[in-house]
Amino acid sequence: MVNSVKNNNSELQPLPENLSNQIMDVYHVYGMKLQNKVVALKGVSFDIKKGEILGIVGPSGSGKSTLLLALGGMLKPTAGRIIYPDGTDISKLPEEKMYTFRRNNIGYVFQEHNLINHLSAEKNIEMPMKLNFIPQSERKKKSNELMKRLEINHRKNHTPSKLSGGEIQRVAIARALANEPQLILADEPTGNLDAEKSLQILELFKDLSDEMGTSYLICSHDPIVAEYSDRSLEINDGIIIREHGLGIDLMDLDSSRLLVMDNQNRITLPEDAVEEVAGAFLYTWKVKDKGIFLEPLGSETTIDTQKIKFCPNCNLEIPPRTYSCPRCGAKLSRIVR
Ligand SMILES: Nc1ncnc2c1ncn2[C@@H]1O[C@H](COP(=O)(O)OP(=O)(O)OP(=O)(O)O)[C@@H](O)[C@H]1O
Ligand SMILES: [Mg+2]
Repeated sequence: MVNSVKNNNSELQPLPENLSNQIMDVYHVYGMKLQNKVVALKGVSFDIKKGEILGIVGPSGSGKSTLLLALGGMLKPTAGRIIYPDGTDISKLPEEKMYTFRRNNIGYVFQEHNLINHLSAEKNIEMPMKLNFIPQSERKKKSNELMKRLEINHRKNHTPSKLSGGEIQRVAIARALANEPQLILADEPTGNLDAEKSLQILELFKDLSDEMGTSYLICSHDPIVAEYSDRSLEINDGIIIREHGLGIDLMDLDSSRLLVMDNQNRITLPEDAVEEVAGAFLYTWKVKDKGIFLEPLGSETTIDTQKIKFCPNCNLEIPPRTYSCPRCGAKLSRIVR
């Protein structure tokens, strides 16, 4: 018997004209086993407007790349919806449809580039167009135009191993722009570039968003990117904690002992505070002087937790009383026994 596959995208409601994407309550949990579980996104919701450059800023391990992978359909979020302008919810899209959808709608600049090693810079840039059956003459014209704009024309016949980090980055950007997608997702796109080259790329992004209404979602630690973004969302521990307007200064980001209430009224306690109360999980609370005071209910409500000994991100052995990895900065949570 052949079962018809229920397609949750069958009744598509296009987004309003001014919106590129709607991200609704997205969660992502890595790892299936309890002790390996990392909740990287904890209910993230926001809109991307057409033609805007939207920055995602936050410390290492806060969930920026996970969010981009989910938006690019490279990772299925554990829960939530990711809507594109025609109303497609890509979190429900079967893999075979996702492949074509991605090629036509999304340009992705990866944190680790993913260029094809045995192909020249030019052929790498042409690849997405080739997969879309664009004739060769048109492919050449477009890739040459992009290479000129990104000043890599003189390196077009070189394979990635013969290119510098900055050149590889610019090839990856040209490749993402090749099919003129409506949304570009860029993970640290200026990571290997000096200030002048970074500005050049951001100018190009800006020109394309003005010319074609392309939207950009860019994660970055680079103050130049933050300054250039129309808006920036600050993410911390898988939650968007704040929105910043045009031209934020990354020095303004929160490193204080701020607690965040998410969109479901939940507050995650910092690891060092949890350590102090030795893993209690039941608290009494009272409101006093407009503050909320929590008190552990008693020793019988304590659960047995254990600090992670090795960083799940880079495997470094973690010294005692350390709550983020000293090498890669990943936030370390504890495991429950
Ligand atoms: N494949 C994976 N399996 C398990 N955990 C993962 C995986 N990828 C990421 N993580 C964890 O998920 C959390 C979010 O990681 P993510 O890569 O999204 O952070 P990030 O903000 O992009 O960090 P960075 O600025 O260092 O690139 C981190 O705790 C990380 O260790
Ligand atoms: Mg990342």
